[in-house]
Amino acid sequence: MMKNLPIIALDFDSASAVHDFLDQFDEPLFVKIGMELFYQTGPQLIDEIKAKGHNIFLDLKLHDIPNTVGKAMEGLSKLNVDLVNVHAAGGIMMMKQAVQGLRKYNQDIKIIAVTQLTSTSEAMLHDEQKINTTMDEAVLNYASLAHTAGLDGVVCSPLETTMLTEQFGPTFLKVTPGIRLNSATTDDQQRITTPQQAKELGSTHIVVGRPITQSDSPVEQYNIIKESWLQ
Ligand code: C5P
Repeated sequence: MMKNLPIIALDFDSASAVHDFLDQFDEPLFVKIGMELFYQTGPQLIDEIKAKGHNIFLDLKLHDIPNTVGKAMEGLSKLNVDLVNVHAAGGIMMMKQAVQGLRKYNQDIKIIAVTQLTSTSEAMLHDEQKINTTMDEAVLNYASLAHTAGLDGVVCSPLETTMLTEQFGPTFLKVTPGIRLNSATTDDQQRITTPQQAKELGSTHIVVGRPITQSDSPVEQYNIIKESWLQ
């Protein structure tokens, strides 16, 4: 069962850095393991984090031919994680096989699709991907493919969630990075909201990294973000 907590992006490069970070908290968390960490540590870290009672979003963003993604998901379905993802750009068939593979050993893991990365600008959409629509239309189209394929939701910007809730209902997951407590510290995120704004706009989960992990007082920052999100 996925907790309704802010998801902390564990963007560290070693298992020991992760444990040092997690040991500061004395409550169950929801954490995200991305490519850089997973490729350094492998599945063992997942069991170690699970043993501490935390929920895990394994953010590997699979994108390949349908058969390969389906088989890869069979592997991930043996891992003790709560949420996984693919790129919606892989298409409906790829996403359907991803769901099928994931359900082989586990019925409970949720699966969502990345729509357009928040690092992609509208200019890149037009000039590089040759998608001649607005960003909102491109995101809506990818979300629609994910919905048709039977996925549980999408990763998107908090500023795109309202239209997705209108189209696919409140239970379709909208997992949103790009969260900051104030606009002074954006890092490389382009389109940010506060946790409270994200909730009001319809995010079902927020992902927060550097504002917590790079802070001098991570537990304090986490609690401020959690309060803003849960209120
Ligand atoms: O440090 P920050 O809060 O910006 O971290 C956001 C996390 O969400 C990072 O792990 C980043 O890779 C991830 N992410 C994102 N935008 C996306 C997909 C994932 O920022 N579209």
